[in-house]
Amino acid sequence: MSSMLAINDIHVSYGNIKALKGVSIEAQQGQIVCLIGANGAGKSTLLRAIVGLEPLVMGSIEFNGEKIAEGRTEHGKPHVVLTEQICARGISLVPEGRRVFADMTVEENLDMGAFLVRDKALIIKRKSEMYDFFPILWQRRKQKTRSLSGGEQQMMAIARALMSDPRLLLLDEPGLGLAPLVVQDIFSKISIINKENKVTVFLVEQNARMALKASDNGYVMENGLIVLSDRADALLVNEQVKSAYLGQ
Ligand SMILES: Nc1ncnc2c1ncn2[C@@H]1O[C@H](COP(=O)(O)OP(=O)(O)O)[C@@H](O)[C@H]1O
Ligand SMILES: [Mg+2]
Repeated sequence: MSSMLAINDIHVSYGNIKALKGVSIEAQQGQIVCLIGANGAGKSTLLRAIVGLEPLVMGSIEFNGEKIAEGRTEHGKPHVVLTEQICARGISLVPEGRRVFADMTVEENLDMGAFLVRDKALIIKRKSEMYDFFPILWQRRKQKTRSLSGGEQQMMAIARALMSDPRLLLLDEPGLGLAPLVVQDIFSKISIINKENKVTVFLVEQNARMALKASDNGYVMENGLIVLSDRADALLVNEQVKSAYLGQ
């Protein structure tokens, strides 16, 4: 089986800071794959590299067998596909901290998520699907996003990302700063999006337990390197993971 997402030995730097030092990750179609790691490990950098927001120094990223990013090419220049084109190919990112447009209403935020969709009727259909899936967003649709709770904003950020009908959904710490029950709610939605809507999910979390419980496979990142990878159920009982990430 070929991978939907294949990250091959990528390196990303911010000036002199080496944020990713040779990271390889694979996700098969239909899976939920998680990446856990402490603050500053390089998780967000990895997601940003997938959607073309950070250039690669070395390595490459393939989506459905096509190269969407490459560090050193034979022409000597990095190859970067524009974020908009990556979105058009079926990858959507829910950024860290939700990054909602606070002065826009929920409805306007969802419209922004469909900026590549030309067909007005299709936009309306997708919005109504989102309102069915997240009923609270229907109630809040005319409200400015800043008036929403953190959990509601996260749901809206996910709904906005789904408006482009992605095949691969990238989530950057969907549970960050939310109460445990709200986090559970968000994770059960992520699971439905994966199982019923057949969207492959790659999620990044500091909340290792929630992430591993929801996932098929997991990777552990420390200081820009993958230090462990396994089936998620195996990582949940791994002694190293338990002491470093599960507080056991
Ligand atoms: N825009 C930036 N400029 C300089 N350094 C950055 C920038 N963004 C992240 N870093 C650094 O890169 C490393 C990885 O950061 P990040 O990918 O945000 O980690 P995580 O998401 O795991 O918390 C950290 O050392 C961080 O300080
Ligand atoms: Mg981060």
